[in-house]
Amino acid sequence: MKALVLVGGLGTRLYPLTYHVPKAMVPMVNVPFAERMVRYLTRFGVDEIIFSVCYLPDPIREHFEKHNTGAVKFHYVFEEKPLDTAGAIKNAERLLDGTFFVLNGDIFVDINLHDVMDFHRQRGAKITIALTPVDDPTAYGVVETDDTGRIRRFLEKPRWDQVTTNHINAGIYVFEEEVLARIPPNRPYSVERALYPHALEEGVPMFGFVSSDYWIDIGTHQKYLRAHRDTLRGCIKVEIPGEQIRDGVWVGADSHIAEGATIEPPVVIGRGCQIATGARLGPFAVLGDEVSVDKDACVAESVLWRGTRVGEGARLRECILGRSCVVQPGTRVETLTAFEDNSTV
Ligand code: GDD
Ligand code: MG
Repeated sequence: MKALVLVGGLGTRLYPLTYHVPKAMVPMVNVPFAERMVRYLTRFGVDEIIFSVCYLPDPIREHFEKHNTGAVKFHYVFEEKPLDTAGAIKNAERLLDGTFFVLNGDIFVDINLHDVMDFHRQRGAKITIALTPVDDPTAYGVVETDDTGRIRRFLEKPRWDQVTTNHINAGIYVFEEEVLARIPPNRPYSVERALYPHALEEGVPMFGFVSSDYWIDIGTHQKYLRAHRDTLRGCIKVEIPGEQIRDGVWVGADSHIAEGATIEPPVVIGRGCQIATGARLGPFAVLGDEVSVDKDACVAESVLWRGTRVGEGARLRECILGRSCVVQPGTRVETLTAFEDNSTV
């Protein structure tokens, strides 16, 4: 089974984290996001993955060239200029056939893809969209269905007065190959604003599969942190790297935690980290590899990418720090803030 993953967006809502790292490669509990996506897809028998890349394509390809176990065949389809979601799918047409999955590259999910595919086949759909309930549908594509699951309306980023349901497009689709003929080649074209509304007008059988399984998109700082919290709480069944040394505490190889340090679970510590005496970690602290937390520094509800140093007595809460940052001694940052790679804070 093939899956096309859209990873060409700029990731602007995650700036400054995504200045140097594409959204698809930001770490999610110390595993690159795209790697988590691949593990998810392979659980459901996907063995051929096409990444549709545009902005910062190299890190994705380099990662999978280095870490390919051979179980999955990878392809990369590049765009000179962004072709938007449907244009990007069209651009990969030569690699697609039969029935296949298409996924947004920034969703962290546990939706059962076997169930989505079975539903698609039972309904005889040409397009199936996985749907998930959310509190604020205005940030997404709202999808109205009838009792049989047939889609009646698709409205991208509606105003509140246009919201008729809390079911939104989860960014997981099943397509029949013939749908590709509906997308004009070599120009920007949107799945959400053009392909779906037009297909509905023309009576193409499109169905919505409602799932209550875990779903979040990691497109903003807040949701990126929430996805970490949810993972550490066990809301989504994914692997957490490191050895679980006690309930809710994972530690990578070659890390050293001083006697007088306090760890309040859940906490994830990468490899080669140094936690000094008097330091306090957690709850909900995730440290990448080679992070050091100096004497009496506190890190809670934060995600620190690899190579960062937190100076003596500093306090971080609700922070996301890119790679190799330096937090100067005594610094306090205690409201939601994100710092790019190599920042001095
Ligand atoms: N190759 C390529 N080219 N990929 C693109 C392009 C492009 O021009 N534009 C966006 N993408 C990719 C992004 O990288 C992302 O993985 C996916 O397409 C969706 O784009 P976002 O920018 O993240 O869209 P969104 O979050 O505002 O809305 C989309 O996702 C929601 C669910 O998270 C829509 O599909 C909504 O309908 C949906 O509810
Ligand atoms: Mg998104």
